Amino acid sequence: MQNKVLILDFGSQYTQLIGRRVRELNIFSEIKPYNKLPEDLSEYTAVILSGSPLSVRGEDAVHPDLSEIRGKKPLLGVCYGAQYLAHFNGGSVEKSNTREYGRANLNFVKDNEPFFDKVSTGSQVWMSHADTIKHLPENTTLLASTHDVENAAFKFDGEETYAIQFHPEVYHSKDGKQVLENFLVKIAKMEQTWTPDAFVDKTVAELKEKIGDEKVILGLSGGVDSSVAAVLLHKAIGKNLHCIFVNNGLLRKNEYSEVLKQYEGMGLNVKGVDASARFLDDLVGESDPETKRKTIGRVFIEVFDDESHLVENAKWLAQGTIYPDVIESVSATGGPSQTIKSHHNVGGLPDFMKLKVVEPLKMLFKDEVRRVGASLGIDKALLGRHPFPGPGLAIRILGDITPEKVAILQEVDAIFIDGLKKWDLYDKVWQAGAMLLPVNSVGVMGDERTYEKCVALRAVESTDGMTADWVNLPYEFLQKTSNDIINKVPGVNRVVYDISSKPPATIEWE
Ligand code: XMP
Repeated sequence: MQNKVLILDFGSQYTQLIGRRVRELNIFSEIKPYNKLPEDLSEYTAVILSGSPLSVRGEDAVHPDLSEIRGKKPLLGVCYGAQYLAHFNGGSVEKSNTREYGRANLNFVKDNEPFFDKVSTGSQVWMSHADTIKHLPENTTLLASTHDVENAAFKFDGEETYAIQFHPEVYHSKDGKQVLENFLVKIAKMEQTWTPDAFVDKTVAELKEKIGDEKVILGLSGGVDSSVAAVLLHKAIGKNLHCIFVNNGLLRKNEYSEVLKQYEGMGLNVKGVDASARFLDDLVGESDPETKRKTIGRVFIEVFDDESHLVENAKWLAQGTIYPDVIESVSATGGPSQTIKSHHNVGGLPDFMKLKVVEPLKMLFKDEVRRVGASLGIDKALLGRHPFPGPGLAIRILGDITPEKVAILQEVDAIFIDGLKKWDLYDKVWQAGAMLLPVNSVGVMGDERTYEKCVALRAVESTDGMTADWVNLPYEFLQKTSNDIINKVPGVNRVVYDISSKPPATIEWE
């Protein structure tokens, strides 16, 4: 496929954002570590060099050979990428004396430059760098400066190589997306044809070709990724897609039956497997969070393996892997670190893991998965569901797990989540849930003393779950929810709201 952008990652925390911004312009982008240049560069129309925590002046400075790219394809260096282009081409980069973090405003030195089309003088950009470009290489033209950064943007004469010190990918660079669009559309002449509909058409055709009339097994979780992967595959191979939806007994209230019905209504060939007893039996008496997780993981593999044997002659295992799971990250110390490693002993793998793997969403970011889901006609409520951990309520019941505790937490969680929906708060929260604490406290109901359980409610805002902050839910909502829980759920006499951010806390309590 042509009309792709190659983003070479030098380890910046913003590299994924560059990828997303380019995709938002309906242009496909791929991120590769700086030291793994793809062999076939003909697939890429333009190249962007990312920022980096490293300094070009350091001994560990990385400088890949770009001779196959420079002057041959439109090239844009961002931050470290710009310093790289300056430093290794006869310019000079020094430690900066002034503070160069945060907001700055562009002043154009060269007018009518297509690179800055539709961007006005004074436009706010975001800086984040400790080094600065003191002298430009020869045969370059300065395009823009800011108050503190003289060489904020420049280009190499006679070629389509641009360099900018600011970060166009971050939200605070007001016209950053326009700058990227100018580079990719005006200068690199790329087409803005990467849309969810185009992705669906292309992927369905590819899946048909790849899988033919072989059978595929897919584990549905009720979450967005596996659901979208299933519908996409179903569109390509119909009934040859065999979906398995396992009830581990730790799902939300009524989730198993409702989601199963929803999947069936979508025409999926889905088998529900209620293995609740098998999971809960193996968890009896277990309080350690990691052992709970491992037990649930093990039982899931056993159940899934048993079920996959019932699908005769299956050749493929489909997974809802998405792009952030597969991007190889570059470590800040220079060496690339491969984050995805297989520690499995191949001989000991369960049978289903010996199948060929198909991952139709592995080039998509989460928001793109949602857009593709919408283009496939998947219900909005399913696409907008909050993330839910694989081990389910097991890691929200602190201490050991019993069917009674699961039932209590399911009721509490349902009141909380239904309330968020009724109050139009559900979509404003990234993730919400309730924790059952191993704490009894004294209360009074009517004239009677109670000594019952305490639950904690947690609602967070986040973009990826890596960092999160608690949500300032309205007091009236918390008041009503707390009342409902204590009045309607026997065994609970106290409700607290978690006001911890991540870090230092985590989203789940275990
Ligand atoms: P923490 O608690 O680490 O959670 O702040 C971050 C995000 O990951 C989810 N989470 C899990 N998901 N298996 C999963 O599939 C797990 O063991 C697990 N633990 C946490 C959590 O719900 C949040 O969205």
